[in-house]
Amino acid sequence: MSFTVVEPCTPRLNRSELAVPGSSPNLFEKAARSAADVVFLDLEDAVAPDRKAEARANIIRALHDVDWGDKVLSVRINGLDTHYMYRDVIDVIEQGGERLDLIMIPKVGTAADIYAVDMLVTQAEAAVGRTKRIGLEAIIETALGMANIDAIAAASKRLESLHFGVADYAASTRARTTMIGGPHPDYGVLGFPDEAGKRDYVLGDVWHYAVARMVVAARAHGLRPVDGPFGDFSDPDGFKAAAHRAAVLGCEGKWAIHPSQIALANEVMGPPEVEVERSRNILAAMAEAEREGRGAVSLDGRLIDYASIRQAEALVAKADQIAAKGT
Ligand code: GLV
Ligand code: MG
Repeated sequence: MSFTVVEPCTPRLNRSELAVPGSSPNLFEKAARSAADVVFLDLEDAVAPDRKAEARANIIRALHDVDWGDKVLSVRINGLDTHYMYRDVIDVIEQGGERLDLIMIPKVGTAADIYAVDMLVTQAEAAVGRTKRIGLEAIIETALGMANIDAIAAASKRLESLHFGVADYAASTRARTTMIGGPHPDYGVLGFPDEAGKRDYVLGDVWHYAVARMVVAARAHGLRPVDGPFGDFSDPDGFKAAAHRAAVLGCEGKWAIHPSQIALANEVMGPPEVEVERSRNILAAMAEAEREGRGAVSLDGRLIDYASIRQAEALVAKADQIAAKGT
C-alpha cells in the first residue's frame, strides 16, 4: 500500500438519487416517502430562469415543513457562472435550518470552483452557528471538468461524491447522442465475416471512458462515484442495462429522474445476495483465523488476500445499511 492513505468520506447509502425540481413543491412529499436513498431538490436546469427565486423559497419552506425521514437531502445550486448561485448557497443555509445534508454543484470545471463554494458554505455555516456540516456533491459534466477531475476530487474535505452528468457532458464534448445516457447506433464494432460472409455489429458503450475515469478519480480520493441520468423513463430495461454497466465499473448509485427509476437503481446498485453471502463467509473465516492465531486466511481451500477482505468488509457494511433501511 501507498504511504498516502485514502480517507473515505462520510459513508452514506447512495444507490438511488432522485431529482426533484424546486419549482414543483407538489412533488416534495412524494419524494420524501419514496425509497430513494438521496433526494436532490433542483434549483438549476429543471427550473426556468423566471422561477429561480420561487423555487428557492419552496425549497427553504420544505426544509422546515416536510418530514424527510431518513433521506439524505441535497440541493442542486446553480452554476458558478450565474448570478443565482451565491444566493442559492446563502439563503438555503441562512434560512433553511439544519436539515440539509449536501449541496450539489453543477458543471464543476476546476478545483477552484469547489474551493469557492466551500468558502461560501463555511462562512454561512459559521454565521448561523450551524452544527451539522454540509457535504458537497460535484457533477462532472463538461470537458473542462473531466480534464481537471483529479484536482476537483481533491479540492475539499467537504466533498462526498462525483456524479457523471451525461446530458451536459454530451453537449460540452459535442458528442453525438440520440438519448440521454443511452447507446448510439453509430458507436459499435463491426466483427469479422462468418462463413456466410455475415458480420455482426455490436454496440459499444459511448460513456465508458467518462464513467470509468470518474470512478478512478472518486475512489482515489475516498468519494462515492454516482452515475447520472438515463433520459427515457419509459425504458426500464435500458435504465437497468446502463445502471449495471455503471455498477460493474464501481459506481455506488445512479440518478432517478422519474420515481419509477428509484426501485431499479436500488435493485441494481445493491450488492448481489451471493456476493454478500460470500463476503460474510470471508469475514467469518478471517475471524476464525484470528482466533487461532493464523496469519493466512483461507476459505474453501483457497487463500484470501487482504484486498478481498477489505472488499468484503465494505460490501457487508453496505448490505447492513440496506437491511437497516428496509428497502
Ligand atoms: C445532469 O445534470 C446532466 O447534465 O446529465
Ligand atoms: Mg447537467
